Amino acid sequence: MKIRRALLDDAERLYEIEKECFTFEALSREQIVSFIRDKDSTALVAQVNGEIAGFIIGKIYTANGKHAGHVITIDVAVKHRRKGVGKQLLEALERIFLEKGVKFCYLEARADNISALNLYRKMGYVELEKLEGYYGDVHGIRMRKNLRAP
Ligand SMILES: CC(C)(COP(=O)(O)OP(=O)(O)OC[C@H]1O[C@@H](n2cnc3c(N)ncnc32)[C@H](O)[C@@H]1OP(=O)(O)O)[C@@H](O)C(=O)NCCC(=O)NCCS
Repeated sequence: MKIRRALLDDAERLYEIEKECFTFEALSREQIVSFIRDKDSTALVAQVNGEIAGFIIGKIYTANGKHAGHVITIDVAVKHRRKGVGKQLLEALERIFLEKGVKFCYLEARADNISALNLYRKMGYVELEKLEGYYGDVHGIRMRKNLRAP
């Protein structure tokens, strides 16, 4: 598996995977393009045998002089799941955040998204707060991890 920065030419494939992963709340093609272009965002793809199997988008926010990383989305195509793609994408994003001096990474997940919650817990994320009504029908869970160099 190879992890690399997403290119504008990848946008169509990323959009295809996004629609496969999320029926509601999917990012639009235009949003994906703007994240790839945005200098404060990091968009990475995982390639398996030359095919894009999944991607992750993260962004660094600064408040009161402090930087925090945020996972905007993580998507793995159905046929590539449960092979470590999600874990490797998240690890790669965390490494980039660390290189940029970011000490914390935040993310949100639906309370019923067992695969995502398991992945995040396994990766060391801890639950911070319950987000009532965050996804309309189901509440969200905000999680945080203290990033440390290995
Ligand atoms: C969540 C998602 C990114 C995981 O990607 P993945 O490549 O399949 O995950 P990995 O193979 O790296 O799994 C790592 C760990 O996560 C957990 N996990 C992943 N899928 C799981 C599942 N279906 N059921 C239970 N635990 C799961 C396991 O602990 C797994 O470790 P293990 O395989 O050694 O048991 C993927 O299921 C996905 O794209 N889902 C749709 C989009 C989505 O919900 N994104 C997250 C939004 S918050």
